[in-house]
Amino acid sequence: MQAKLTLDKDFSIGKVDERLYGSFIEHLGRAVYTGIFEPGHGTADEQGFRRDVMDLIRKLQIPIIRYPGGNFVSGYRWTDGIGPKDKRPRRLDYAWTSLETNQFGIDEFADWCKKAGTHAMVAVNLGTGTPQQAADLVEYCNFPGGTYWSDLRIANGHKEPHNFRVWCLGNEMDGPWQTCAKTADEYGHVANEAAKMMKWVDPTIELVACGSSSAEIATYPEWDRKVLEWTYDNVDFLSMHRYYGYKGDVTAYLASYADLDAFLSAGIAAADYVKAYKRSKKVMKISLDEWNAWYCDHGAQEPWTVAPALEEQTYNVMDALCVGGLLCTMINRSDRVRMGCLAQLVNCLAIVMTEPGKSAYAQTTYYPFLHASLYGRGEALRPLLKAPKLAAGTGEFDAVAAAATFDEEKGEMTVFALNLAEEAVDLHLSARSFANLAPVEHIVLDGDLFAQNTFAEPEKVLPHSAPVAACEKGESDVKLPARSWNVLRFSI
Ligand code: AHR
Repeated sequence: MQAKLTLDKDFSIGKVDERLYGSFIEHLGRAVYTGIFEPGHGTADEQGFRRDVMDLIRKLQIPIIRYPGGNFVSGYRWTDGIGPKDKRPRRLDYAWTSLETNQFGIDEFADWCKKAGTHAMVAVNLGTGTPQQAADLVEYCNFPGGTYWSDLRIANGHKEPHNFRVWCLGNEMDGPWQTCAKTADEYGHVANEAAKMMKWVDPTIELVACGSSSAEIATYPEWDRKVLEWTYDNVDFLSMHRYYGYKGDVTAYLASYADLDAFLSAGIAAADYVKAYKRSKKVMKISLDEWNAWYCDHGAQEPWTVAPALEEQTYNVMDALCVGGLLCTMINRSDRVRMGCLAQLVNCLAIVMTEPGKSAYAQTTYYPFLHASLYGRGEALRPLLKAPKLAAGTGEFDAVAAAATFDEEKGEMTVFALNLAEEAVDLHLSARSFANLAPVEHIVLDGDLFAQNTFAEPEKVLPHSAPVAACEKGESDVKLPARSWNVLRFSI
């Protein structure tokens, strides 16, 4: 099978916002407790943060992490998680039928982010919560001092404000599973009022309004239009969420990259409709702040227990390939998709797994995310791809999904390519405007599609290096192995 990819320095999609490579930690199962936070663990620091988990996370260079939910946030009282730990209440968490001890809250998350070399994206509760409580949280976190909430933060040991820049106005408020779900008009109204108040407290923050939680929900995509009609002037991003899973057809699953592209197009179209309707000059950005492969395997659990093992799925090579394809789509749409959060980071539908009191390891899906985060920076280049078509499900898809980035400062160009086909693809790369392109590395992730990393075999699946193909005057012939994720790194 043969394919051709043409790239040109002048065909730029735009600069990739580094926040495209964000992630997500929710108070869900063991994401926080025995995930990132486990006082008494052999590697725990003085605050109880697991250093072994931190090491795996730091390698990813994640610019932003969404917190504390997710569904959890819609019933969360943020004041429960501040102040002396022995005074913090234990509460029922309706979202995950769990017991929340509140031993980890917003101040701990701020400290953890600093140590992990990342920034927080904080979601406020617009389920049971009010606009006033949301504005109070902004005051607690970002106001320098001299007011009730900012002085309380100082009294709690944080003299300097946390200065969180990005805030989500609730989570998936269209979903009947959400604590106090709302109609689009109910949510649009409350989100707009919360947005005004939060920006009065700190005008420098960026706000994300809840868009549709999936394409399957009955209110999609009307929800997006209605919510933006309420909030357009006061928010900066429309949030979109999308998950995929293998249902017996490998090619259809790997072609999820095309579905994500269509899903994003619909969100962008809804936003642009409202822009025209409002005669606005503002271009609404998209925050794909939940995306991943997910099998919704809740796991058997006793209700109302602390940190139950929920949503702890083990990903395989096929899931990693799917994630690679989704990352290609995100890079190709990065002119409008400015933020993304791989959901999630630790233990729950996660790329990092931990055992209480024991070790941590990286799942297969860790690797494509690592590659995109490390090498997918700079300008996104428009990939002109000619590839054979594959039939799957009800559609036809390019056998190759590709994206490319050019980092002028570092003198690097990277091509990401997913081969969906059951056979190898000979890819001719033509990038003539980069006359002095020199190959650096060809990283491949492939092999048994059902192979997984586990606690017993944490490094069973690892990316490996393939021989680099020669490159002359920007032209190169590269072999993409059957069903493989490829990272072609070049220096310029
Ligand atoms: O990421 C897991 C859950 O998926 C989140 O809590 C929710 O927002 C979504 O439905």
